[in-house]
Amino acid sequence: MEPRKDLLDIASLSLEEIEFVLKTAGPFKELFTKSIKKVPPLRGKTVLTLFYEPSTRTRSSFEIAAKRVSADVTNFTVGSSSVVKGESVLDTIDTLQAMKCDYVVVRHAAAGVPNMISKHTKASVVNAGDGFHAHPTQALLDAFTLRETFEDLTGKKILIVGDILHSRVARSVGQICEKLGMEIGVLGPGSLIPQARPKFMRKFYTYDEALAWKPDAIYLLRVQLERQNDQFFPSLNEYHKIYGLTEERFRQVEGEGTWVLHPGPVNRGVELGDDVMTYERTLINQQVENGIAVRMAVLYWLQPETN
Ligand code: CP
Repeated sequence: MEPRKDLLDIASLSLEEIEFVLKTAGPFKELFTKSIKKVPPLRGKTVLTLFYEPSTRTRSSFEIAAKRVSADVTNFTVGSSSVVKGESVLDTIDTLQAMKCDYVVVRHAAAGVPNMISKHTKASVVNAGDGFHAHPTQALLDAFTLRETFEDLTGKKILIVGDILHSRVARSVGQICEKLGMEIGVLGPGSLIPQARPKFMRKFYTYDEALAWKPDAIYLLRVQLERQNDQFFPSLNEYHKIYGLTEERFRQVEGEGTWVLHPGPVNRGVELGDDVMTYERTLINQQVENGIAVRMAVLYWLQPETN
């Protein structure tokens, strides 16, 4: 497979490139059961994580992944940097470029920032989430997790529930599932389902209607209160009653053997109840574990221009 310089979104990836990353992640995951989990391909390279928004999973997952492929890692902490003194993103990148980093993993609240940075640096840029736009490594790790569960995804149905409008995860996961042959349904408050959604996203109006479609997997999105300037639904309690995986709905899902995914962090009592967290077909922890293997594969695949 031809290497790429950057990973900015799912939309621009070919099916062959997606398959390459998923296939490469498999042997990396096998290392996790060994006492030595480290391999040498990025020895001598430097990975910089540059997060302008909070993160638990993605940032630590990239750090562990980079160390497992033997790269050196520097975490740039925006809150204690010159960014708080007004330094622009591009000036920050110029400064960091002078330090000869090979990979920059960036998260930013504004869509398109990783793209802008990629044109400005010889380092490989990995989008770790930009505004409402894209979260490609989340989608790749979810596809890897679904593949582990179902093997062949062709014709399998996934129901994405929640705030589709503000979700970079929904956009990227929808795109990758479509490329891998899945059927995609969406369910959420009318104000949070975009009118201009892709044709492959089939809209459901109620949970009953969506569950009658018999999805193989349900993907619960986090309610992103931090991205909503306006009130899109009356209250979190109301959201849970109408769009949450309540105890009653969970019993139905459990009876059907439906798998449950969530990108994290979960809002217990909003998107789901406690019982979902201990359900044997909840893939949330598997998603986190697979995130490391998939990010190792991404770093291994990308080729910076710094050589
Ligand atoms: N899934 C995800 O992006 O989680 P974090 O915000 O914790 O990185």
